[in-house]
Amino acid sequence: MAKTNSVFKKAVMAVSGIIMVLYLIAHVVGNLKAFSGREAFNSYSGWIRTVGNPAVPGETTLWIIRIVLLVAVVAHVWAAVSLWRQAKRARPEGYVTKKSAAQSYASRTMRWGGVIVLAFIIFHILDLTLGTVNAEGFDSTPYDRLVASFSNPVVTAFYAISVILLGMHLRHGIWSATQTLGQSNRRRETTVNLFALGFATVLTLGFLLVPFSVLFNIID
Ligand code: HEM
Repeated sequence: MAKTNSVFKKAVMAVSGIIMVLYLIAHVVGNLKAFSGREAFNSYSGWIRTVGNPAVPGETTLWIIRIVLLVAVVAHVWAAVSLWRQAKRARPEGYVTKKSAAQSYASRTMRWGGVIVLAFIIFHILDLTLGTVNAEGFDSTPYDRLVASFSNPVVTAFYAISVILLGMHLRHGIWSATQTLGQSNRRRETTVNLFALGFATVLTLGFLLVPFSVLFNIID
């Protein structure tokens, strides 16, 4: 029973993780619109809100995406916390032999990385979507909020740290998801590891591009 349960929770983690990764791929590509200038970026932001019109009214598509993402985040955190609790209950006094450095490093970054990325997402929405914590405020265009945010080195540094942690989280997550959803196969392990590293690196660099371009006035 406990075993089925944990297999189910791992599948929930993997599937919700994949949904979020698909969003991140679309998001990183969308961010590159910032290099096409204010008009292009703001009209892209408008398009996200009206996509599907007039077949569906207003921001229907955007809200569907938001709800799917929210469910994915909640499911991911729920499964993570309950798997961790389950593992703790099964082994209350910890391993007799110490975990390998790589193993404990991975689980630490997954846990703390996950918490920091979650805090980052909340700040990020208040900053760029709602403008609550943005110097330009809500009454501004998305492009102006973007430039205002990353002109501040402290904000850019926070974004950079979060995105790098996200990359590390993803590298390990992709690896874990293939262990859960695929069959582990020693021969394929190297390929999967290399793919996870390459994918996480490209995505992270993609996310870093816009903040640093604003900071160094390539985008203004
Ligand atoms: C560091 C580079 C990033 C930049 C430049 C960036 C840029 C933006 C911008 C401009 C918006 C507002 C779009 C609009 O109002 O039209 C936005 C929204 C959002 N971003 Fe990012 N983002 C970055 C990284 C991330 C990461 C790493 C995540 C997730 C882990 C993320 C998740 C979101 C979410 C959930 C929204 C809210 C979408 C909504 O409901 O309207 N972003 N981002």
